[in-house]
Amino acid sequence: MCALAISVLVIGTTTASARLTDEKPLLAATPPMGWSSWNALGCTVDENAVRGNADAMVSSGMAAMGYTYVNIDDCWMAPERNAGGRLQADPQRFPGGIKALADYVHAKGLKLGIYASAGTATCQNLPGSLDHETTDAATFAEWGVDLLKYDNCYNPGRPAVERFSAMGNALEASGRDIVYSISDWGDEQSWRWAGNAGGHYWRTFADITDSWDAVVVIVEQQAGLTQFSRPHGWNDPDSLEVGNGGMTTDEDRAHVSLWAVLNAPLIAGNDLRSMDATTRGLLTNPEVIAVDQDWGGMQGDKVADVGDLEIWAKPMSTGGAAAVLLNRGRYGTEIAASPAELGLRCANEYNIRDLWAHTTTVTTGYVDAWVPPHAAKMFLVSPSLGPRMCGTSGLVAPRSRNPR
Ligand code: GLA
Repeated sequence: MCALAISVLVIGTTTASARLTDEKPLLAATPPMGWSSWNALGCTVDENAVRGNADAMVSSGMAAMGYTYVNIDDCWMAPERNAGGRLQADPQRFPGGIKALADYVHAKGLKLGIYASAGTATCQNLPGSLDHETTDAATFAEWGVDLLKYDNCYNPGRPAVERFSAMGNALEASGRDIVYSISDWGDEQSWRWAGNAGGHYWRTFADITDSWDAVVVIVEQQAGLTQFSRPHGWNDPDSLEVGNGGMTTDEDRAHVSLWAVLNAPLIAGNDLRSMDATTRGLLTNPEVIAVDQDWGGMQGDKVADVGDLEIWAKPMSTGGAAAVLLNRGRYGTEIAASPAELGLRCANEYNIRDLWAHTTTVTTGYVDAWVPPHAAKMFLVSPSLGPRMCGTSGLVAPRSRNPR
């Protein structure tokens, strides 16, 4: 466990100054991890909340697990640009300005993220950055900003690739390494062009809300997107709602499990200052984070789907597979996945690590678990004894039985 936690720390805080291409800084070797103000605080965000959440990211142990970015979402801006045409912080809620906040966050070993929009206004009707890209990117760089989430509201219908590339180029020209988070909500299939626009991760769907229905709807949209995700360019199903109160612990656990198997950016969306031990545990499970941060050649995908029962799997760089057995339905049920479904080679035995229970068992065949309603089980499945000759693979769909 100790070795695992250390490796997560090293991977999660990797910085890279090398360039993937001449245009794009290599800044997201693994899916970025951090916190965003939006889900919990919305437009009530202020500088005290940002400082407090940075403090809590460290004191909770999240920073040690790889959470790095402290992202101020919409509503940090004053309603008007200054006389020089520059964005400025809201004087009531951010009287100290953004540079001071960046200094504060950096002193803690963390990084600061900020928000703007590729339209004439942000989604909360504050000044937009469309056609101000060079000025705004330079301002962010001067302030010491490390990440920009660039949104899609109030766009005048100009193609997304043009608008988001303009900011990608401006960030590159700013001279500062700034992670670029593209938020076109998947409207124009961001996964096809956002990497070339300079993006390090890109939203694939509409906004998450704090509900099980929202999580499962978003998850369904991720199926089939594996080919578009890779180091320095990740599909983003949106920030987490874990700990915000709208879901049960089982639902929150399934939410994290699915985001991890998808190699999604892990951006906590709860108020870290007041999170309880359960939420902290869900966000800092080293074995689950290790799956999220591992690149085994492709992000997870749905490999079986029968009604409300699904199997999601992704290859691990160690040669095993991470598996999420998801029960979207209202009754507990058994779900079984064959090694072949999980993409594993034939072997005489497989070690099955339950990543939430932290127990290991051995199977010669199926990965089989009872999954409560609105919940998921998550496993790391590794061939241990083998190889053996395999005949036809077994079931290719989850088996279910009547509710207990
Ligand atoms: C959009 C984005 C959200 C959030 C809000 C802020 O809806 O998709 O993630 O940033 O704007 O207004």
